[in-house]
Amino acid sequence: MREGRGAGNGKVILLGEHAVVHGQPAIATSLLREVRVTVRERGAADRPPPPELRAALDAAAGAVGGVDGSSLHVGIEGDLPIAVGLGSSAALAVALVRALLALDGRSGSTVEIARRANEVEKVFHGTPSGIDTATAASGGLLWFEAGPPPHWEAVRPGAPLALVVALSGTRHHTGRAVGGLRTRAEASPQVYSPIFRAIGELVRSGRDAIESASWPLLGEILSMNHELLRASGVSTPELDRLVEDARAAGALGAKLTGAGGGGAAIALAEKAPDDLVERLRARGWEAFVA
Ligand code: PMV
Repeated sequence: MREGRGAGNGKVILLGEHAVVHGQPAIATSLLREVRVTVRERGAADRPPPPELRAALDAAAGAVGGVDGSSLHVGIEGDLPIAVGLGSSAALAVALVRALLALDGRSGSTVEIARRANEVEKVFHGTPSGIDTATAASGGLLWFEAGPPPHWEAVRPGAPLALVVALSGTRHHTGRAVGGLRTRAEASPQVYSPIFRAIGELVRSGRDAIESASWPLLGEILSMNHELLRASGVSTPELDRLVEDARAAGALGAKLTGAGGGGAAIALAEKAPDDLVERLRARGWEAFVA
């Protein structure tokens, strides 16, 4: 039986989440963890996909064009935790688009796949900036601007980044976090616009720090970005505790990553990231090297 396969990477946002929705640049990196999708015609023994997956499949079929999603079976596997700010919905969207293209005997450029996958992301969270799908499709460390048109380019670190991901233990809902902040920002632009601009400046300085491997400075920038996100109302007591613990465990800096309201944090290790992972685990957090 004909089948199509595709994969998409998970990601973490290093700097600039939320502000990127409001016109500022951001920096993200892909994770080695991924979502893999297989699509094929549904057999008699296959159950139809659950409603949310069905909606994503329909959106992906519409974005790809020339494919009928209604009769397809979708198999999903992978090692990416879901709904914790590691880009699982974007990874699924990219994997679905690639699998449908493959089923139809086609492929696409990274830019095309990211653009199509972003249409699928809208099913999951309303008005995505496109940073998650760009990173899930292209991989690596990226500088991203939402545009329109969206623009992204590779950032070359001066030395390997010793980055650790840790989970706060609570799930989050990207659409709700982004929508809540948008409502607050629209009600009081004089309060929120300077915060978004300040985050944008941190992203620009952060890129310089990454390219010149100035890790202590990058650590400070990460922590400052966390404080601005916290001031914007998207952190939680668990995320704040996790960030504090990471710093106490010797991280050069730490911040929530992704939409917040639960989910994950990142921490920059001074030297070996495995040591920081161990120290975070000893404090009861689930953590891994990015
Ligand atoms: O999918 P998450 O939780 O990593 O959040 C995406 C990043 C945001 O900036 C909060 C939203 C967006 O679309 O850029």
